[in-house]
Amino acid sequence: MRTPLIAANWKMYKTTAEAAQYGKQLLEELAARQVAVSAAERGEPGQVAVVVCPPFTALGALGGVLAGSPVALGAQNMHWEAAGAYTGEIAATMLLDVGCRYVILGHSERRQMGETDEQVQRKVQAAAAAGLIPIVCVGERIEERRAGETEAVVTRQVRAAFTGLGAEAAARAVIAYEPVWAIGTGEYASPEEANRVIGLIRDTLGRQLGAEVADAVRILYGGSVKPDNVGPFVAQPEIDGALVGGASLDAKAFAEIIKQAEVNAA
Ligand code: PGA
Repeated sequence: MRTPLIAANWKMYKTTAEAAQYGKQLLEELAARQVAVSAAERGEPGQVAVVVCPPFTALGALGGVLAGSPVALGAQNMHWEAAGAYTGEIAATMLLDVGCRYVILGHSERRQMGETDEQVQRKVQAAAAAGLIPIVCVGERIEERRAGETEAVVTRQVRAAFTGLGAEAAARAVIAYEPVWAIGTGEYASPEEANRVIGLIRDTLGRQLGAEVADAVRILYGGSVKPDNVGPFVAQPEIDGALVGGASLDAKAFAEIIKQAEVNAA
């Protein structure tokens, strides 16, 4: 059984004070809705796992508020090297040091700025080696979709990201299928279509790493997820949760998404 995971990607928003306030409010909103949040990656039936990924500067403030709660902390990027002369970069051990368990890697907004499949592969390996759980983002651009290349694009991205990863590390990893045209646009894939592509991603993993790994990896949908559309996504058999951008910036809306996921999960 795969425990659903709901992940917040704040992108480049919120100060330390706003992050601390959000953390407090999120825990209150979850308690008010009696959401059964699992502190572990694999929880009990009926539970849902939650991670919030603020900008680097807010990790300490948010982590301080979430410490001791079942809500996990994550980052939005990292470098593949363990240390060195890499101005402006952050290493996996530094993320662990401030309490991160997850790290988003290969987000389309980073790929658009030039991040390559090979760089994502190095980052995934470094994250896993350090004990962080990578949330690997894959997804096709609108012109690729129109050209019928969705399957080829996501297959290439998944293959690259998981190359060189041992079965144990791979089984812990998370993939987020985010069609680029659905991110921040208010447009979203139909739950059936997202389920189909995520099924293809799982098949790719099965061929690459075996059925056991494919069955264990949590694969999320991302792209304009809101409280009122998350239910049908998580009700699909292949979809194990959501990566939420814009709607995760509001603690109440994010708590409602988590609640809807708990209620509707397949
Ligand atoms: P969105 O972003 O929910 O604002 O569409 C999703 C993401 O970029 O992960």
